[in-house]
Amino acid sequence: MAPSAYIAPVGDSALIFRDDIFKGKVLFCTGGGSGICRAMTEAVMRHGANAAIVGRKLDRLTQAAKELSEATGQVCIPTQADVRQPKALQEAVSKTIEKFGRIDFVICGAAGNFLAPISGLSENAFRTVMEIDTIGTYNTIKATLAHVRASKGSYIMTSATLHYNGTPYQAHVSAAKAGVDALSNVLAVEEGPHGVRSNVISPGPIANTEGAARLASVAGKDSPYPLGRPGDVRDVGNATIFLFSDAASFVTGQILAVDGGSEHLRTTQLPYPASVLDPSATLKVLKARM
Ligand code: HXC
Repeated sequence: MAPSAYIAPVGDSALIFRDDIFKGKVLFCTGGGSGICRAMTEAVMRHGANAAIVGRKLDRLTQAAKELSEATGQVCIPTQADVRQPKALQEAVSKTIEKFGRIDFVICGAAGNFLAPISGLSENAFRTVMEIDTIGTYNTIKATLAHVRASKGSYIMTSATLHYNGTPYQAHVSAAKAGVDALSNVLAVEEGPHGVRSNVISPGPIANTEGAARLASVAGKDSPYPLGRPGDVRDVGNATIFLFSDAASFVTGQILAVDGGSEHLRTTQLPYPASVLDPSATLKVLKARM
């Protein structure tokens, strides 16, 4: 496909959404210390919410919370917990309630990822990613649900698009994210009568994250994108603001790919026949698009 002459601009949320739409609201975000989830937290805080960010590394969380507070003028607190440990998560929730008195929004974002073929994936490696992504999401729902019901709040799970097809070297992540999608769908149906919504955001190729920088060392330079550019963390932030806002009050149980159309392009452009003979050809293309 010829490169597009058009390059989509990143939407400026300050010009799109009123800056006080989340005034008085509180966000609880796992994985909020870095990457996409940190940007999602910032987007919500810039529109008036306070936040608690959850992660394993206290140093990184403390620094991120300080920077998020300074950047937005809202309050962000670091709450250390491993999402694989329900008790630690419960303590993080208690700390959040102690500080802010409520939880309106939850982002289930903590995730693990690395490239490995099934043949080289140990049982523990597979289980580790399932435990962080899928069981961690379940644990987060369980720890927060009573508070989210009380505020008639809303969940966003972060997923991916790679499990829509058979993405090589991503069996563990694909299985885990399929589980995350399913959890959100069921949560939406069960909790709708309590006024609770749940949706999934599935980011596509997002350029400005640590993970993407890591993968860029092996990526090709010729990745085509339907909108002329890879994603930006602010694209995911904008989708987050929409889904948490009243503009989405009738939107629940949905899976929103924020990928600039890349998934559809990927599906049609992977060299599948070649991949049967030479799996490394597929991997090269995949790495270029991650
Ligand atoms: C093969 C690996 C591996 C690798 C870890 N393991 N890294 N196997 N290749 N590169 C194996 C280990 O050998 C071990 O199995 C098991 O996994 C557990 O590893 P630990 O290091 O003990 O676990 P832990 O400290 O809990 O952390 C695991 C981890 C971590 C989550 C994978 O390495 C990590 O935090 N990675 C980066 C996180 C990240 O990138 N997050 C962003 C996710 S983005 P054995 O058998 O030896 O005991 C995302 C979106 C998906 O998820 C979409 C992308 C396009």
